[in-house]
Amino acid sequence: MRSVQPLRRRGLGAVVAAMLGLMAPFVMESQTPAPPPPAILLGTAWYPEQWPESRWDADLALMQQAGVRMVRVGEFAWSRMEPAEGRYDLDWLDRAIRAAARRGIYTVLGTPTPAPPAWLTQKYPETLRMDKDGRLAEHGNRQQFNFANPKYRELARAIAEQMARRFGRDPWVLGWQIDNEYDEESYDPATKAQFQQWLKARYGTLDNLNARWTTAYWSETFFDWSQIPIQTGYGNPGLLLSWKRFVSDTWRSYQKNQLEVLRANSDPKKFITTNMMGWFDGYDHYTVSQDLDLAAWDDYVGQGHLDPARNGAAHDLTRGFKRKNFWVMETQPGSVNWASINNSLNKGEVRAMAWHAVGHGADTVSYWQWRSAMNGQEQYHGTLVGADGTPVPLYAEVQQLGAEFAKAGPALAGTSVHSEVAILHSYDSRWAIEWQRHNGEYNPVAELVSYYKPLRAISQSLDIIPPTAPLSQYKLVVAPGLNVLSDAAARNLIEYVRQGGHLVLGQRSAMKDDDNSLQPARQPGPLAELLGGRVEQYYALVDAVPVEGKFGAGQARLWAELLSANDSKTEVLETYGASNGWLDGQPAAITRQVGKGRITYIGAWLDDAGMANAAKWMTDVSGVKPAFGTVPDGVEVDPRYGDHGTVFILVNFSKAEQTISLPSALEDVLEGGAKQSVTLPVYGVAVLQTPRRAAVHPGTHSLLLGH
Ligand code: GAL
Repeated sequence: MRSVQPLRRRGLGAVVAAMLGLMAPFVMESQTPAPPPPAILLGTAWYPEQWPESRWDADLALMQQAGVRMVRVGEFAWSRMEPAEGRYDLDWLDRAIRAAARRGIYTVLGTPTPAPPAWLTQKYPETLRMDKDGRLAEHGNRQQFNFANPKYRELARAIAEQMARRFGRDPWVLGWQIDNEYDEESYDPATKAQFQQWLKARYGTLDNLNARWTTAYWSETFFDWSQIPIQTGYGNPGLLLSWKRFVSDTWRSYQKNQLEVLRANSDPKKFITTNMMGWFDGYDHYTVSQDLDLAAWDDYVGQGHLDPARNGAAHDLTRGFKRKNFWVMETQPGSVNWASINNSLNKGEVRAMAWHAVGHGADTVSYWQWRSAMNGQEQYHGTLVGADGTPVPLYAEVQQLGAEFAKAGPALAGTSVHSEVAILHSYDSRWAIEWQRHNGEYNPVAELVSYYKPLRAISQSLDIIPPTAPLSQYKLVVAPGLNVLSDAAARNLIEYVRQGGHLVLGQRSAMKDDDNSLQPARQPGPLAELLGGRVEQYYALVDAVPVEGKFGAGQARLWAELLSANDSKTEVLETYGASNGWLDGQPAAITRQVGKGRITYIGAWLDDAGMANAAKWMTDVSGVKPAFGTVPDGVEVDPRYGDHGTVFILVNFSKAEQTISLPSALEDVLEGGAKQSVTLPVYGVAVLQTPRRAAVHPGTHSLLLGH
């Protein structure tokens, strides 16, 4: 055990921090038990292996002064951790963790498996992944490994186990990130053989597989499992979906291989996560999340500026993976290096983006990266300090954020997001539509966001969850583009409506079954009876089509389904105007009350005004109340609920200053004092807390606020 270092030996940075009142944890020796981490963490990705150790403390001191309380370390450092097979060197990593701890900074350890050392792939070339054209990846970039290769898994498990044994009980290590951004598949013959075995386990017999994929079509019939190819683009829809499910299961088992040794050797309080990528659809994130403790994602805007709806939906999507608070493991300090134009976010936008993340349930916001490596592929990426090791202009904004997170942490501790409205999201459906868009502009994520945006603005809180998730807590469940509907999901949705919920199906819903085959009944297949209506025909649109009815007069674009009602209780909500003749005067949206529940089908991709009116109708009919109350356009409200009250985070994304009158007096967490109204500049943020310390839950919170 090293002795406790006296404060005076810690330099100016520590003294400054002490004056800021942030000092309590820092006087502790790094190997003594660490104090509990703050509720909301500011973090950064740090690569000590890229720097001389003599530089480490200067960087950590600057982090400390910015209020950084977490570094993520190690995820690309395999060649440093294991310079030759079986020769492990983790001492430097231990020293890095200790150095950070002395500055009161916790560590999240990344297993280094996205970047295998050159000796490894040279000695075991079968560990390299193969691209679609049969070429093996090379050393010199990352992600060159084959995710299905047993030898790679053996070596990955060994390094993860070494790390876990060494650091699994380290009080300053908060948890683990396995690998980094799972992405690249491998199309080598051994992986193909695994896929064929996977199919055998799923389908049992070739007769069954042939029938369910309708391989009589184009003489696709398989007579032996070994004849089944890997197809990723234009292939049999049953085969395409199966490959994606195999990829998802393979990432899950790839992850489990490391997770088992991390868990076996770690203090159970340490979380295990991986950093996912928002809307990325390379695998089914619900499958891969199952074994994790925490969901985390890397939130990059790239070119342009933050779109609060699309980005907010990605936060809500990530929160839905474990249905609890999540982390932003990486986000851009200003700009990236990989977009076409790597513009910087505006002054104030980085802070607004961070609070927006917290509002949606993030408990950590961590910047990638602290300082650019002097060489390597990402020299131009945004950082918090420059190549000279001194702060860049954005540092001050992040420092403000660090102080604010520290201040707001106690109010936000134990709070989480709860919603009355859910949107259903399914990778199967997104893939199925992507493979057969039918209208080249039909983007399933854009479709989801077209519903999300107005529904989120009205409800001020919304969950995004898979179609088999429990639904009874929701007043309104909306399924935009639920193209593939499994029998289990159909049962879940029918039960939800029968129990009194309102289910809204968006265009292209329930066309396919679990094998990506057409449903034997017209859309919405197993839900048509409940709806008392169906889709007679779908039309890809070149020109917009007028629609009118309960949602006002507007236009349908990209897609229009001609609906019919076959039950006297089924009501027509919207009708098409003059168009291709087939659609003229025909139903575009229908609804049917079922006991206390309701089912609605919207067959057209409505324009923004139409969607806004549709969202208003849906929420009104379902009794959904805004979580906070009226706010000016462009101001986002994000509630987080706890046993002792509600915290509302308000962010002004509009182009002008906005004054928001509060529904009742609220405590201003950042500025202090009780407020009846707040004025926010562009990108301004307010964190407001209910004064009552009573438990608050959705449905009762509006009462508490007196509206
Ligand atoms: C992420 C990746 C990081 C870094 C970053 C740059 O996708 O995880 O390692 O490359 O992008 O934006």
